Amino acid sequence: MTTNSPDTPLRVGVIGLGWAGQQHLASYAARPDVQVVGIAGLEDQLRTDLAAKYEVPNAVPRWEDLLTQVELDAVSIAVPTFLHAPIAIAALDAGIHVLSEKPMARTAAEADAMVAAARRSNRVLEVAFNHRYRGDISSMRDQVEAGALGRVYHAKAEWWRRAGIPSLGSWFTNKAMGGGGPLIDLGVHMLDATLHMLGEPRVLAVSAVTHAELGPRGLGGSGSGKQAVGSAFEVEDLGVVMLRLEGGVSFTLEASWATHRPSGDDMAITLYGTDGGVELRTIDYAPATVTVFGAAADGSDDVVLPERESLGHRAVVDRFLVAVADPSRWNVYDGTIGATRTRILEAAYLSAERGAEVRMDELMAEVAR
Ligand SMILES: NC(=O)c1ccc[n+]([C@@H]2O[C@H](COP(=O)([O-])OP(=O)(O)OC[C@H]3O[C@@H](n4cnc5c(N)ncnc54)[C@H](O)[C@@H]3O)[C@@H](O)[C@H]2O)c1
Repeated sequence: MTTNSPDTPLRVGVIGLGWAGQQHLASYAARPDVQVVGIAGLEDQLRTDLAAKYEVPNAVPRWEDLLTQVELDAVSIAVPTFLHAPIAIAALDAGIHVLSEKPMARTAAEADAMVAAARRSNRVLEVAFNHRYRGDISSMRDQVEAGALGRVYHAKAEWWRRAGIPSLGSWFTNKAMGGGGPLIDLGVHMLDATLHMLGEPRVLAVSAVTHAELGPRGLGGSGSGKQAVGSAFEVEDLGVVMLRLEGGVSFTLEASWATHRPSGDDMAITLYGTDGGVELRTIDYAPATVTVFGAAADGSDDVVLPERESLGHRAVVDRFLVAVADPSRWNVYDGTIGATRTRILEAAYLSAERGAEVRMDELMAEVAR
């Protein structure tokens, strides 16, 4: 095991300075054994301000400049999704450990190329699935692991917004830049958290429908905070997926940026087991309530779990740094989990396009041909 220390800090860079990049910056800044030696982002004023705030010696506009001009041990990638694969592969090939924002990539082929780069360079490749480290999701996972639900046979995960398209005209709404809409943006978090809670069951088949009803009419936008590229609305604004998991388990996933509905932002995960159920629901980012439902039909043995601290990006960064500090883990943290999520979402988009269920084994065979 190698360790970094305040005397020989790990030299880290952050590429992309929007909300996500700033979570990475703040998380690294909290670590005495890390020095953020460089940042990259296209916004001049923001770059200058963040470099001053976090005392970063190198601040450049383009990611290529950071990778070629600054000596780095590790880098966080928090840019539009179409850039994740090229930046990650360039960094890994230069021997730099990579922490990529979600979704890992637009397609399974891109994600596989990132995993291949991590393996050939023997460097860490991790994906920021920060929702896993929410207090409520951790509490639910503990219930599953403790066997409180018996055998879980159905899972339901949903994330609905009333007017939450991340800036109309931004890269998020551009198919080639984002790879998709709310399914790949919000759905990937729900997919990851649910499969993580269920102990990584295999997904056998996927059936999906996507809709684009509000976005193309200029409705459902949420301000102008994201990098604007003047794009038309080219992706879905609602995606609905039914997944068949191994062991006969069913899983429904719904993700929407914009729909006519009551709350601004409504996120929920429910697990149904043979001995109990558990649900978390959070409206407009209020602390989530996690309720465990027992066998008594009158609800007398239901329990509301105590609130638990959410660690989010801090936990993502801490885990990444633990992996980086231990060469024996480098070939384990190769991005495979992120690539699996990307492949499932790709199958969902394909299913929506075909109007038919897509079996994962048949999809793999199609790709191999
Ligand atoms: N984990 C989460 O909860 C979470 C939340 C929001 C966004 N994200 C992810 O983070 C990524 C960025 O999202 P965002 O909301 O911060 O986007 P954003 O539009 O706010 O910011 C994008 C940043 O990328 C920079 N960028 C673009 N092209 C660049 C280039 N060639 N070189 C250097 N920098 C470049 C922009 O200048 C900008 O600073 C996306 O992959 C998104 O899915 C994750």
